[in-house]
Formats: sequence, structure tokens, C-alpha cells
Amino acid sequence: MSLSADVPGRGPVDPSRLPIVPWPSVVEPLDGPGVPLAIVRVDAPDARLAALAAEQLAAAGVRVDDGAPVGVTLRLDPASGPPGAASTERYTLRVSADGVVATAPERVGLLHAVRALRQLVPAGAAGAAGAVVPAVVVHDAPRYPWRGLSLDVVRHFFGPQDLRAVVDLVGALRLRVLHLHLTDDQGWRIEVPSRPELTERSSGTQVGGGRGGFLTVEELRALQAYAAERFVTIVPEVDQPGHVNAATHAIGELVPGGRPTDPYEGIEVGFSRLWFDNPATEPFLRDVLGDVARMTDGPYVHVGGDEVLTMDPAEYARFVELACRVVREAGRTPVLWQEGAHGPLEPGTVLQYWDPRGDGAPFVAAAAAGARFVMSPADRAYLDMKYTPEHPLGLDWAGCVELRDSYDWEPTQVVPGLPPEAVEGVSAAVWTETLTTRDELFSMLLPRLAAVAEVAWTDAPRKDWTSFRRRVAAQGAAWRAAGWAFHPTPQVDW
Ligand code: ACM
Repeated sequence: MSLSADVPGRGPVDPSRLPIVPWPSVVEPLDGPGVPLAIVRVDAPDARLAALAAEQLAAAGVRVDDGAPVGVTLRLDPASGPPGAASTERYTLRVSADGVVATAPERVGLLHAVRALRQLVPAGAAGAAGAVVPAVVVHDAPRYPWRGLSLDVVRHFFGPQDLRAVVDLVGALRLRVLHLHLTDDQGWRIEVPSRPELTERSSGTQVGGGRGGFLTVEELRALQAYAAERFVTIVPEVDQPGHVNAATHAIGELVPGGRPTDPYEGIEVGFSRLWFDNPATEPFLRDVLGDVARMTDGPYVHVGGDEVLTMDPAEYARFVELACRVVREAGRTPVLWQEGAHGPLEPGTVLQYWDPRGDGAPFVAAAAAGARFVMSPADRAYLDMKYTPEHPLGLDWAGCVELRDSYDWEPTQVVPGLPPEAVEGVSAAVWTETLTTRDELFSMLLPRLAAVAEVAWTDAPRKDWTSFRRRVAAQGAAWRAAGWAFHPTPQVDW
């Protein structure tokens, strides 16, 4: 088989030129001409998946028509994916003169396959005979199950419409988790039925004095349903026992002396806290975490635990124990920021590593006790860091994070001594102190979220920066067509 020709439609292509992001496990060009995908019919195991596939193809300019001679067939088949791959998300995509066939053991893999196919449709060929996809077989499976984005909707509020666009982006990059940071010093962004005063009194503020906002129970339900259809799990976060000024503003009983704290619209951290021995504290945490856990369709609730700078370790540990217990009693698995390693943890608790400053020993000990790790090292995966010192948006406390910084890192080597098998996955994170609009948010996410997605999906030996920067350049047209702003970093020839 010759790999020399790289013109779609004229024989085998150089596989490294196929614009698939994240990069698959196995890419085998086939001999023979490419397949014209101007008009196709879609056959799928159910109507919902057929509609999602049609939506993806239409977005790439491919018309879907039941009478079209070229078929895109989606079929459930356990014998799919790379040889030996165990992930239930694995899939095989075959594009040949016979049409397109995607197989996977589960529906999520079929959608991954459609998304890879969508990336293979040349940009700008919409509806024309030019929409020719190279003949190829892709066998693919992700490296990690937890591939996510953590999004702060407190410092600036982003509502249901923006969040659906974020779900679309997350899904396009084959990520599975959207973690929403819903409570902090500057606002309370989730309706809690047992404690309506939280949103009544503390949702109308944000950094810099804007209107804020919050998600109602119904809006969260609808968002979770939208995400679940796209195989994205929403993980809500109630941050405690620090980052609680919105709570102590709404509920004065949480403060010794009973006087509510003032609203806060700045960007400092570490000044607010709960008091464990305050009689109002445990009922508050039971109500809020219990309600939020019951409102959560997915298996995880994040209970924060970061940057508690004014509490002794024994009191902090009691908060970790209580918060995790309440979440477990509601049948969910607790997630904590890395500081939770200093509390008592049940096996299976998830710790989200974020701060690369300091000693890794507590994390190695937590892993030995059965904690699972999601890696979000700020100097790689915090997408609110500026790209360069001159970048108009973002912060720089963890340094500048250019696209290549978000790409060139290995999750198992972030914490020396952490057993590789303790790593459950990778999450990008974006904090919104400086981000006020959807375009500003997306321009910080893209293109770096694509890099983090590839870190989470693609086995280390198959990652390659030169290939990635070429493949990511090819995404620009689709991002523009979707209305997703991105930062045209000079590290890529767009
Ligand atoms: C964090 O960045 N404080 C988790």
C-alpha cells in the first residue's frame, strides 16, 4: 500500500494528514477512491441516534435524504474497535466504495465514529460533489474514561444557551464530563429547593458588578438531558468549606455572631469559610448537598474543598468526611479538589489535581488509600491562563499556557510517584474572572481544549505535536461554521 499520495479521492492518503482530533488508535488508509458524501442516507439503531448523526453530517454540509444511494450505517457490534481494546467507548469506522459503516458495542461509540467522520468531510465542500471523504478504516478507543472540562459559572454567569453550546463543543472533542463550578464567593448559581434564600439573595452578583444569574432545578434537568443525549455527564460542584461567601451572605446563621457577610465581586480567594461547630453548618450542608445530589442524573457530585486558607487541618478533615458522607448517602460518588487528599477518603473518591506547586506525597498516599485522580494541572490544563503575556484575557498565576503547553504533557508524570493506574482521566478547567461573553470563553477554550482532549484520548506513543498542529488547523472551518470563537495562535498555520 502506498502512502505517498495525499489527495482525497485519488487513492490512499497519508494517514497523518487526516484531520481527526483526538487522534485515533489505528488509521488504515484503503486503496481505492474516496467516497462522495454530498447526499447520504443514515441507518441507525434508533431514531435519536439517527437524528444526532444527521445533525453532525448536516453541520459538515452533508445532506441527509432517505433515498440517497450512499449510506452511513451505524450498527451495534461488540466486535468493534482496536484489537484488545477494553473501553466500552471503542468504535470502528469504515469509509469505502460501499459507503460508510460505523460499528461499536455501545451507542456512545457510534456517536464518536460519526464525529470522526464529520471531521473527515472536507471543509467548504458543502453539498457539492467535492465532499469526498478518503477511503479509510479507523479503529479507535479512548485512553481514559474521564475526559472533561471544568467550567466556572460563578465569577461570570453562563446560562442554559451558552451551556448547551459548551456541551456541543465538549461532545465534538469526544469528552464525556462537563463539571460545573456552581457556588463560590461571588454568587450562588443553582436553585436549591430546601434553601431558596441562596439564589434569592446571592445569585444577582458576579465579578465586576454584572447581573449574575442561576440555573433553576428545571434548567439543570433540561441541561442534563441535553448532555446525556450526547453522552456527556454533568458533574455539579458545591464548593465548601471555603469559597462560601455567597452562602454566608445569604444565610447569616452560617457565620459566628449571625451577621451575613457582604456581597463580593472581586477576584481574591481564600477569605471565606464555614465553621464546623456552628449549629447551622451541618444542616446547611446536608440540605444543599443532599438536594444537589438528588438533582444530579450522573454518578458524581463535586464537593470542592480547595483553598481553605484559614482552617486547621482537623476541622478541614471533618468537612471532607461530612460532605463525602452526605453525597454517598444520596448514592453518588464524591469528587474533591486535590486538597481533599488531606481528609479521610473512602476508596473510589475522586480527587481533581490542579495546583502544581508543592509536594506530591499526600496524593501518592491518597492513591494508596484508593483515591482516583483526574489531572487538571494548572500550567497545562487551566484554559483561563493567558496564551502569552500580551493576551488580553485571562490570568497568569500559573504562567502562560500556549497551545503546545496544553498538548505536550503526560498525565501519569505530573505527580512523581503516583501510580499510573490511579489516574482516572484528565480535565481542562476554565475560570471566568476575566471572561464575560461566550466568544471570550470559547476563545480561551479553543484551540487548547482540543489539545487536552487529545491528551485524554490518545495513548502517549501516538501523540505527535507536528501532526496535531496540522490536524487542529483543519478544525478552524468547522469551528467558524459552528459559531465557536477560537484564538488563532501563531503556533498553528490556520
Ligand atoms: C482551584 O483552582 N482553586 C481549584
